[in-house]
Amino acid sequence: MSYLDSVAIRRAFRVNAAVGAIVAVAIRLAHAPSNRITQAVRESLASHADTEKGRTMMSKDPFESFKAAQKAGWAHFAPLEAGTTFVAAQLVKHARVHAGQRVLDVACGTGVVAVTAARRGAQVTGLDLTPALLERARENAQIAGVTIDWREGDAENLPFDNGAFDVVLSQFGHIFAPQPEVVTAEMLRVLKPGGTIAFATWPPELFTGRMFAITARYTPPPPGVAPPPQWGDPGIVSQRLGQGVKNLAFDRATMRVPALSPQHFRITHERLVGPLIKIIELLAADPERLAAFRNEYEALIAEFYEENTVRQDYLLTRAIKV
Ligand SMILES: C[S@@+](CC[C@H](N)C(=O)[O-])C[C@H]1O[C@@H](n2cnc3c(N)ncnc32)[C@H](O)[C@@H]1O
Repeated sequence: MSYLDSVAIRRAFRVNAAVGAIVAVAIRLAHAPSNRITQAVRESLASHADTEKGRTMMSKDPFESFKAAQKAGWAHFAPLEAGTTFVAAQLVKHARVHAGQRVLDVACGTGVVAVTAARRGAQVTGLDLTPALLERARENAQIAGVTIDWREGDAENLPFDNGAFDVVLSQFGHIFAPQPEVVTAEMLRVLKPGGTIAFATWPPELFTGRMFAITARYTPPPPGVAPPPQWGDPGIVSQRLGQGVKNLAFDRATMRVPALSPQHFRITHERLVGPLIKIIELLAADPERLAAFRNEYEALIAEFYEENTVRQDYLLTRAIKV
């Protein structure tokens, strides 16, 4: 089945679910006292269907608790912006962002990409799940003297009109949305035809991709959650973007994160990176497994440790929406 087919099936499911919800509203109304009818209609329709963006969909998200855990886990990420700041410049350049463009930074974190694009004169919106990071993003924009529209929200349900942006970017962000076909459809929906989609992602065979594979082995994600490093495989990216884009182009670059030793790197990241914070919490009751995880992770770090840095190569993708 192609990605476009699976998106169509999901949409059909949502429409059917919404129709079911409307039938349920009708049944509730048949039993409701008349003075409560208007309120019942409003509440039930608001909780089951959202037609604001011209789409009918269920508001109940099957990955709600997964996303709540992501939100809590990523709240400590701010100090790592020092590493992703360098990448932001590469991504903004790769996407050829220029003054006057309307740019969306999906899963913006502390806003390193958003601020970089705004400093080039773009009109920027940054969206993220995690309020603590948005707070830092506001501060970052204020310090840089740029104005950015910050929004708390979910990459799988973007609160923007079709074609609202000239450029849609994501740096190590949309990869954490559990359903790649949903987040891809959303990012392309809010992009205008002829606009640019570009992102930075982690290849599965390199440092960060392998780190995610180790964590998934110790604490498997809920069923249905796609592994983030799949977004670092050009074949999969090309399949996911599919016929929706043209001029697909890839590049690779390196992020180097300073660390005094592999142990320093492991300890710092265990305190700041959402998925690692989670694994340490979950394995706390099982010291043997926790030690095994730490040994494995540290051995991986050592493989990529050179001259007091950890080398984290990433993939850059750019394409034009047809
Ligand atoms: C590794 S951080 C990257 C942040 C930023 N883009 C950067 O490069 O510094 C991952 C970000 O993805 C965000 N995130 C995870 N799942 C998300 C979702 N479903 N919708 C929006 N943001 C999400 C997290 O809150 C976090 O800010």
